[in-house]
This record gives sequence, C-alpha cells and structure tokens, in this order.
Amino acid sequence: MQRKWWHGKTAYQIYPKSFCDSDGDGIGDLRGVISKLDYLQELGVEIVWLSPVYCSPLADQGYDISDYYNIDPRFGTMDDMDELIAQAHTRGISIVMDLVVNHCSDEHAWFRKACEDPDGPFGEYFYIRDWHEGEPLPCNWRSYFGGPCWDLLPGHKDKVYFHAFHRKQPDLNWENPALRREIYKMINWWLDRGLGGFRIDAIINIKKLLPFRDFPADRDDGLCAIQRMLAEAEGVNVFLQEMAEETFHRYDAFSVGEVFNEKAEDLPQIIGDNGYFSSMFDFSGHLIGLDRRGWHLCRLPAPEEYKQAVFTAQARAADIGFFSNIIENHDEPRGVSHYLPQGERSDAAKKLLGGLNFLLRGLPFLYQGQELGMENRTDWTLGEFDDVSTLDQYEVALRAGLTPEQALRAVSRYSRDNARTPFQWDAGPGAGFTSGTPWLPLNGNYREINLADQRGRAGSVYEFYRSLIALRKSPDYAETLVYGETVPWLPEQKNLMAYLRRGEKTLLVAGNFQALPQGMRMPCPARELLLNNLDSVDTDGTTLRLAPWQLVVFELEP
Ligand code: NOJ
Ligand code: MG
Repeated sequence: MQRKWWHGKTAYQIYPKSFCDSDGDGIGDLRGVISKLDYLQELGVEIVWLSPVYCSPLADQGYDISDYYNIDPRFGTMDDMDELIAQAHTRGISIVMDLVVNHCSDEHAWFRKACEDPDGPFGEYFYIRDWHEGEPLPCNWRSYFGGPCWDLLPGHKDKVYFHAFHRKQPDLNWENPALRREIYKMINWWLDRGLGGFRIDAIINIKKLLPFRDFPADRDDGLCAIQRMLAEAEGVNVFLQEMAEETFHRYDAFSVGEVFNEKAEDLPQIIGDNGYFSSMFDFSGHLIGLDRRGWHLCRLPAPEEYKQAVFTAQARAADIGFFSNIIENHDEPRGVSHYLPQGERSDAAKKLLGGLNFLLRGLPFLYQGQELGMENRTDWTLGEFDDVSTLDQYEVALRAGLTPEQALRAVSRYSRDNARTPFQWDAGPGAGFTSGTPWLPLNGNYREINLADQRGRAGSVYEFYRSLIALRKSPDYAETLVYGETVPWLPEQKNLMAYLRRGEKTLLVAGNFQALPQGMRMPCPARELLLNNLDSVDTDGTTLRLAPWQLVVFELEP
C-alpha cells in the first residue's frame, strides 16, 4: 500500500452553523471557525472538514447549494474563506470542504433556467419528464426525506423533476457530459484556492437506474425506498473514475466519500492506492439496528454487535486502504448516546468508546463536541426540530400508529439535530457559542459538559482525546498506530473489545465494554502502559482484570 501525506493525521468535522458564532446572529460562521483555529491546533487535529458553507436557502442546512462559487452571507465572505484556508495552513491544518454534487438547490441558476426552458441546455442538467395529472409518476421511488422522488417542475403543469432528497434538492443529471464538466471545473477552482480536498456527499446516488421504473411497494404509501434502485444501478464507477482523474488526483487532494452499500469487490477501486477517493467512512456501526421502515423501529446497537461490525470492516480494508473511522457525525445521534447502554454517561465509558474507535487502523475522524463527550439532547419538543428528516420521521411514526408522545420519543433518539446543537465552549450564557439566541436550542447540560471545565483538567474527556491524538502522532508509536494491522484479541469474549495493533511494535488495546468488571488473558507480558482511562490497572502479567468501562493500551514485549 502506498503511503499518503494524510495517513498519519487526525481529522475533525466542523458543522459551521453550530460551532462558533462571531457576530451574535445565533448562527455559527467562518470568523467563528477562524477564532478557534488555535483550539483545533491545541487538540492536535490536522484535517478539518467543514460541512457546507456555500450560498444556500438552508432547506437541508446547506446541503442544497444555490451557488458553488460563493459563501452564504450567514457564514461569511469569500475573504473569510481564503483567510481560514491560509490561517489553518500556518497551523499545519488542511481545510476540506463538503462537495454536494448529487443535487443542487432549486434556487440554483441552473435549475431556474431549466424551469424557464426545460427543452434548453439546462433542462439536460436535471431529470425532467413529461407527466399529466392522473398519470403515474415516472417511478415510485421514495425520497430519503419522505414522499415521492418527483415534484411538479415550477411553472409547469405537465412536467416533473427528480429529487432523491428534499424537493428543494433537484438531482443533477450526471449522464450529461456538460454537467460533469461544470462540476469538475468547480472542484478545481476550489483546489486552486488552496483547499486540502473534499468530503463527497451522497455520491453513490449520482448513478440512477434508467429508464426510471417502479419497484414493488415496501410501505402502504405505494412507494419503494430509493436504496432499492441503488442496489441495481450499475456504472457509478465510470463517473467516479472520471471525476478523480479530472480533479482530485491532479492535486493529490484528500477526499473522503460518503459511500453506502458499495459492493465488496469494489473497495480497491474506491479507496485503494489509486482509488476514486482517498478514504471513505466506515458506517458499519451506524447500520446496526437500522430499520428502513422508520426510526421508530430502529434498535440501539449492543456492544457485541458494534465490535463484530468494526472488526469485520477492519478486515475488509486491511490490505486495501484506510477507512475513516467515526462514532458520529452531523447525521447521527451522538455516539455516546447511541453506542453506550441507555443511561450510561460516565466519563470512563465515553473515553472507552472514543478510544476503541480512535485507535483502529484507518483515519480517525472526530466530530465537533465528541472530544467533550457531548450527548444527545433529551428534552426536545416537536417545534424545536429544524431538521427535515426528523419532521418526516415523526409523520412516519404517527402513520404507523404511534401516539404523538411515542413518536416524539422515537425521533428524539435518532434526530440529526442531536448532533447539531451548538458546541459547548463554556458554562456562560449561550454556552460561549453565541451572544445571541442560538438557531437550535442548546443541550441544557452545557453547564456541566463544556470545554472551559475540561481544558487542562486531568482526567477530563477532552484531555483524554488530546492524549489519544498525541499518542498516534508520537515518534515511538506513530508507525505502529498508523500502519500496523488490527488483530482482534479474544473476539468471542463477551463485552470485551480488544485488539492488537501489530507493526513495528505490538500494542494491545483492551476495553471492557460493560458496567461489570471482567478478566482477560494477556497475549504476552506488557512492557509499558501507554494509556488508561482510569487511575490504576490490575494485572499480574498473564491476566488483566479490567474495571467497568476500563480501557488500557499497552506496548507488549516483542
Ligand atoms: C448526506 C449529508 O450528510 C446530509 O446531511 C444531507 O442531508 C444529505 N446527504 C443530502 O445532501
Ligand atoms: Mg454568525
């Protein structure tokens, strides 16, 4: 496997709307991010992915772009963006932007022109079909945010357009070479500005199964989940290869794909040495307990399931490339609220989960606030949600017969807004995020869980994350932690998640994923204790007795 400039780094996702608000309008912004660059450097991260800050009506919080070449005024200006890239650079940090090119906003000039003249060149930028009242739609696929993938083309009674997500996110027609050229030009324009690369949104969706046709309905709305079509659509690879050659590869840029449902045999093409992308997220944890019929039917993962999923993914990528390892992102509940048993919120357990994930082979990717152990908000009222997906899932739950209280409880647990509550900088008003009214309510626990409290406090979750990052970068262990293989240790032992990282040296990462103590046989004697989320460790050299939620990292005898 070829070595890449980004392999040894730690990445961090910023959700700009909720990170730091510099001007008191309640919306985080680029000047806010700039003001926190010293913080990011102190934490030790070297790649920072910003969720979208392009011009957008924010129907899906910026994943609906109306101008790829400008910054939304709520987030700042192009000068701010240039300054952010430059200032980050002086601190050894590469800025990565979100690339949202499966769809744009219905307020993008391309779509406006397509509406004005569907038969003109911009009509070909989208999927527009004739349709007459009373006729079936071109296909019965259900969009990710609910309802059919088709809506009337604005200004027309006899035409519909396709959207895989919200109706304000019309899909771009990748079959059209003119569209593809526009996209590549835009990507290179940004890379020329000094950007480190991109996180690529929803990319598997760019290839549709054509001609459009129905699938058997999977709910009583007569529709079928769009994922069903993706399983059959062939040929996305051709687009991805072309995009990589025309853009990322020319710049040696970092790219991380939001890839779901890839075929196992495609992994080398996706993240191998000359892959379409540098890396892709490992979503195998996220897929546990998922039920496509609705969030109210989803089930929280058990530690054993999480462990098996992660080990399977590690084995899949082993000789091929680097997954990007996450426990959460802006589309997920908070990892500590999801993967730890209900009610378990101790610092030890949070560090265990974070450490087990961070020390895997691959690119560790933190999401803002994870380093503080930020949790789901537990007291949502319906009116407080801003996320289109949450509001849709609430309706799905009601239609399935849940009471309003039950439906609220179900969506509160999975809502994407859990991860989007503002960053908890301190215990002051606005949590140090804003001097105004935050666009989304704070998590009330900001008075206890915040950076000001944890910074410099021995044993805090934040300081633990700092030591994880430092360990992965340390001259003695970087080689092993970055490139060493992952070898599961006693994978059958229940609620023990342990593995070796074996390379130049051999390290043992051992975590007790439960509220009871448990013993573990050591593979061989330890040479040195490198990390411990508790104060002491109990071992006689052959056996390790782990306390509840204890995580230890040893260097072993060669
Ligand atoms: C995935 C993004 O992460 C999510 O936030 C967004 O809603 C969809 N793609 C559509 O762009
Ligand atoms: Mg602001």
